[in-house]
Amino acid sequence: MVSEAKEPLDIRGAGALDSKSPDFVATPGDIRPLSLHDRLSSNHVQKIRVRTKPNAYVVQVGAGLLRRAGRELRRVLPSSGSRVFVITSPNVRRHWGEALEKSLRDARLPYEVLEMHDGEPAKRLHAVEQLAESLVDAKADRKSLLVAFGGGVVGDSAGFLAAIFMRGVPVVQIPTTVVAQVDASIGGKTGVNLRGGKNLVGSFHQPSAVLVDPDILATLDDREFRSGLFESLKCGVIRDSHLFDLMERNPKKILGRDSRTLQRVIADSIRVKADVVSADEKESGLRRILNFGHTIGHALEAATDYSQFLHGEAVAWGMIAAAAIARESGACNAETAERITAATRLYGPLPRVSCDVQSVLGRLGADKKTVAGAVHFVLPRKIGKVKISSDVPPSTVRNAVELIGNHA
Ligand SMILES: NC(=O)c1ccc[n+]([C@@H]2O[C@H](COP(=O)([O-])OP(=O)(O)OC[C@H]3O[C@@H](n4cnc5c(N)ncnc54)[C@H](O)[C@@H]3O)[C@@H](O)[C@H]2O)c1
Ligand SMILES: [Zn+2]
Repeated sequence: MVSEAKEPLDIRGAGALDSKSPDFVATPGDIRPLSLHDRLSSNHVQKIRVRTKPNAYVVQVGAGLLRRAGRELRRVLPSSGSRVFVITSPNVRRHWGEALEKSLRDARLPYEVLEMHDGEPAKRLHAVEQLAESLVDAKADRKSLLVAFGGGVVGDSAGFLAAIFMRGVPVVQIPTTVVAQVDASIGGKTGVNLRGGKNLVGSFHQPSAVLVDPDILATLDDREFRSGLFESLKCGVIRDSHLFDLMERNPKKILGRDSRTLQRVIADSIRVKADVVSADEKESGLRRILNFGHTIGHALEAATDYSQFLHGEAVAWGMIAAAAIARESGACNAETAERITAATRLYGPLPRVSCDVQSVLGRLGADKKTVAGAVHFVLPRKIGKVKISSDVPPSTVRNAVELIGNHA
C-alpha cells in the first residue's frame, strides 16, 4: 500500500517564511513576530516554540547565546533556592566550560559541574548511575536544575538522568554539536544504549528550555560538523524547500561556518523538528517523516558495525538511495531526485559504501521502525514534501542499494 501520511498537518514545505511558523525575535522587554527582514538578515536570537502535552518550551537560537546562558537559566529555575548541576564532557568543558561557568557566576547561580565521557560507547546506564550518585553526594534535590551541556550523548544521557532522578527533575539542554542542536536536544527523547542495541532504555522527558548557540560549533571537528549538516538537509527535503535552497546555494558559507548563514540553517532545521514533534510527540504518525534517509542509513550503519560511517554520513547515503527509490517508483521526478543527490554530495565527501549489497538488504527488516514486517520508506515527492510508502518492490530497493555501492 502506498499511502500519503494521514496526519493533522499536511506534509509540505513549511516554508522558511511561513507566517504560521512559531518563531519570534526577542528584543529587550518585547517579543514580536519575526519580520521577513529579520529572518533574512539578522543574528538576533530566534525563539522557536515546541508544544508538547506535558509542557511547552522555547528553543532559543542565537550566536553568542552561551554568554547569556545564566540569565536564561534563571527564568526556568524551579525555585529561588534551586541549584544548577551542569553535566558535560571533558572535551566540551575544555572548549566552552569557562564561558558557561562565567555566565552562571554573572547570574549569581549556585552551580556544580559533573563530567561524563561522550562518544557513543559512553551512553550507558552505568554512566547515568554514576552521575545520579554524584548528584546525591552533592545534595541535589527535587528543585535542582540539570543542564545538559554537550553533544547528543551528553544530551540523551543527562536528559534520561533528569527523567528518573528523584522521579524527575527539570533539565535545560545546551547542545554543542550540529546533531545535538538540530535533532537530539529537541523533542524530549532521552535514553541510553544496551549491548543489544541503541537507545533501548529511555524515556520521554521534555526540557524546560533549549539554548542553541551556533558559535559553539566553531570548535567541532570537520567531519562531525559536515555529518550533522545532513540532518539539516533532511529537514529541507521533508518540509522546508527554502532551507533546502539555502543549503543548495551556500555550501561554501555553511561549510566555512559563516555565523549568520549557519544560524539560519540551524534555526530553520530546528523549526522543522519542532513543528513535527509538536504535532506528533510520540512518533506515531507525522514524526516518521524525520526518518527520511534513515531506513537504508540505519541498515548501512548496522551492516558496517557502526564503525565506518558517522550517523549523518549513513543518512546521507540513505537519502541518495531514497531519492533513487522515489524516482524509480514514480514518487518524484528525475530532477527532484537529482537535486537531492547533488545537494547531499555538496556536504561530502562521504566514506565509500564497501559492504556488500546483501548484508545491507538483510538489515533492512531488522530496523526498529519496521511496522508489522513491512519496511517503510519516506520518499520525496518534491523538495519540501514527502510521503511514506510501505510497498516499495524489493527489486527497486536492491537497485538503490547497488547504486550507492557504485558511487565512489
Ligand atoms: N534524542 C534524540 O532525539 C536524538 C536525535 C539524534 C541523535 N541522538 C543521539 O545523539 C548521539 C550522537 O550525538 P553527537 O553526534 O553529538 O555525539 P557526541 O555527543 O558523542 O559528540 C561527538 C563528539 O563531538 C565532541 N564535541 C561536542 N561538542 C563539541 C564542540 N562544541 N567542539 C568540539 N568538540 C565537541 C564530543 O566530545 C565528541 O567527541 C547518539 O547517541 C544519538 O543516538 C538523539
Ligand atoms: Zn538521524
